[in-house]
Amino acid sequence: MSKMAEIFRTMEYGPAPEAADYVLDWLKSKKGSFKHYINGEFVSGKGKPKTIETFNPATGEKLGAFPAAGRADVDAAVEAANAAFPSWSGLSGHQRARYLYALARLVQKNSRFLAVLESLDNGKPIRETRDIDIPLVARHFYHHAGWAQLMEQEFPDHEPLGVVGQIIPWNFPLLMLAWKIAPAIAAGNCVVLKPAEYTSLTALYFAELCKEAEAPPGVINIVTGAGATGALIVEHPDIAKIAFTGSTEVGRIIRKATAGSGKKLSLELGGKSPFIIFEDADLDGAIEGLVDAIWFNQGQVCCAGSRLLVEESIAEDVTQKIKRRLKSFRIGDPLDKAIDMGAIIDPVQRDRIQTLVAQGAKEGGEVWSPNIAMPENGCFFPPTLISNVSPSNIVAREEIFGPVLVSMTFRTLKEAVALANNTRYGLAATIWSENINRALEAASQMKAGVVWINTTNGFDAACGFGGYRESGFGREGGREGMYEYVKPRKEWGAAEKPSPAPKITATSGVIEIDQTPKQFIGGKQKRPDWARTIPVATHDGKYAGRVALGNRKDIRDAVEAAFNAESWAASTGHARAQILYFIAENFSRRANEFARRLTELTGASKAEAKTETDATISRLFSYGAWADKFDGLAHSPPQRNVVLAVNEPIGIIGITCPDASPLLSFVSLWAPVFAMGNRCVIVPSERYALIATDFYQVLETSDVPAGVINIVTGERATLTKTLAEHAQVDAIWHHGPADESKLVEALSADNLKRTWTSGGKSRDWMSAKTGEGREFLRRACEVKNIWLPYGD
Ligand code: NAI
Ligand code: MG
Repeated sequence: MSKMAEIFRTMEYGPAPEAADYVLDWLKSKKGSFKHYINGEFVSGKGKPKTIETFNPATGEKLGAFPAAGRADVDAAVEAANAAFPSWSGLSGHQRARYLYALARLVQKNSRFLAVLESLDNGKPIRETRDIDIPLVARHFYHHAGWAQLMEQEFPDHEPLGVVGQIIPWNFPLLMLAWKIAPAIAAGNCVVLKPAEYTSLTALYFAELCKEAEAPPGVINIVTGAGATGALIVEHPDIAKIAFTGSTEVGRIIRKATAGSGKKLSLELGGKSPFIIFEDADLDGAIEGLVDAIWFNQGQVCCAGSRLLVEESIAEDVTQKIKRRLKSFRIGDPLDKAIDMGAIIDPVQRDRIQTLVAQGAKEGGEVWSPNIAMPENGCFFPPTLISNVSPSNIVAREEIFGPVLVSMTFRTLKEAVALANNTRYGLAATIWSENINRALEAASQMKAGVVWINTTNGFDAACGFGGYRESGFGREGGREGMYEYVKPRKEWGAAEKPSPAPKITATSGVIEIDQTPKQFIGGKQKRPDWARTIPVATHDGKYAGRVALGNRKDIRDAVEAAFNAESWAASTGHARAQILYFIAENFSRRANEFARRLTELTGASKAEAKTETDATISRLFSYGAWADKFDGLAHSPPQRNVVLAVNEPIGIIGITCPDASPLLSFVSLWAPVFAMGNRCVIVPSERYALIATDFYQVLETSDVPAGVINIVTGERATLTKTLAEHAQVDAIWHHGPADESKLVEALSADNLKRTWTSGGKSRDWMSAKTGEGREFLRRACEVKNIWLPYGD
């Protein structure tokens, strides 16, 4: 062998450390202790604050300490934000855009400093902070400077929320800050942000940049602390919205804590994302993608491709390739530009990873790690592969949040999809196949907010990011992300007036023939589980008829019927539109009957009743119109991709209807849900349930597929509670008293239902501005962002 070849074969990478002295000087200048950033000033914690120390995970060396904000500090920050809100939200979009632009520029100018500081504090490789985290931070401020500029044109009839509380995790400290702060302030909100206790330093440096940008005091406030500080923010009465990224466990706590508070909420939680390799994939590309999917940031990534699903025919080959690749992994000093993997954030996390891996082995997984040099000090964990894992193994179910890949095999696309979706989570999915048909077929079936095809870990400010199911709700980035920080200027009205039923003192004179009232379940009129019924009164205390008193079993049957109607999700917008028009046609034939019923039950005048039936026909037409028009978007991120933001149905939506405009509100609630391909279980207004039961016949004669619309009459409170507790219900739209809305939100924490609740307030159903339209359609959809290779 020639000398040259010999050198190439045996050559080792030398260390290539990034200089850190100027960052260390900055740390020294703080004399070990940092301050909160409140109202444009750096202030010490009030009283005798506890302090939290922060370390370099790669060395264990202390980097500084900061105060844990208590109630007085959080109050001060919220007060400052509230005080700044009128003038900040009163600026023109253009004026706000200039501040966001200034922040973007400052991040760019300080990018090297920020990259080094982030690596020191978090332990992630400088290669990642330099090439990914920090450039994306700048990109987010640029992109959202644009949204600020375009606010008035692109979000007409919307306004900012007020003060937003934001709580972020340690895995992408500055990036998560940017994802949270940029859209919030672009829309005109003011923020109180709490960075994670392990990684607060870049947030505090960012605060210095805010000062340099002369951002008005109070618009951005940063308070440091741990979970207890987070809880103070969550519970603060003067906060209009909480945006959280972190563990599903804390997400649930926050869902419960904010229930009934009227706070808007977005949750970006855990994942157990599949990485699917079909036998026709470009294997070398797929392996490099996989390395990035699971070993990027030491696997401490919510969307990490932590479950490898590989087609059986190539499984052995893939395993060998992964092992070969890992044998050349370099682990060590995060500031070394040539390492593959840095340090784990904290010994607590390393122990958690270790415990899960040990448990996975006990449950039959084959654990393998390469025999490579590991640093002697600091908090490190080797890249690990666990094969022969069954779907029930703990490592196949739980988010490990570390550099651990579990692998399973499949034989058919169907099996791959079933395995991929066999998780409570739904954040991301990656698919590798050179066959575009196969890849897209699989993508369409992924229950995940982001799908990457022949690429992985694509992130961009223009593209929404967020989960299905227990990965949380809400999106960050793009237009969808902006909606998380605004609300319709006109949405709810005054408190809903209850419509108490008068006592029935007289019969209507109509002879009661056997009209046993029923439930509408699975396309049929079904006898209620209990043979119990309740009388319904006319507006003037006469007997109008009876309705079934549904119980929990009826709700469960209705949900099951909805579950079995899943094929509705794949129906076309055109097909749904036709059915909606057909419903409108069949309804209009009987509009007079419905008008009479309205008059009889509500006391509405003939003219008023006609107005409501006319509006109902128009509303059905509206959603017939929308069914094939509420399209998604095609984004062009800076990478070589096109990203299809597809509006998908959420699944099964539980709907509780108000008493007001009982016919129109009933139709206004299920029609958008139906138009977007969801199935629903409706609990009609208790007082005016006869209107819904009259509607059965319209539905029965209009080709509505069985199980897509189910109606259960009875005691609203009981039925609603069962819906909110049901694990197969994906979302709830609740109209009812405030305490019931609160219960719905609290009970929804279990499987993280998307909720839309009235909190006891009224809505003007007659108005096209508040009674129908995009807000309803948006609430009926999940956005799935599918990244495709595109361009050269
Ligand atoms: P965590 O969810 O406890 O922390 C995230 C943020 O929430 C931090 O800023 C923390 O101070 C704050 N927080 C904690 N308790 C709170 C409460 N009751 N109210 C308000 N804020 C609160 O996550 P942690 O403990 O750092 O990590 C534990 C596990 O969570 C990880 O092993 C991982 O599995 C998962 N995790 C997932 C993340 C994701 O992006 N999906 C991010 C961080 C952790
Ligand atoms: Mg640290």
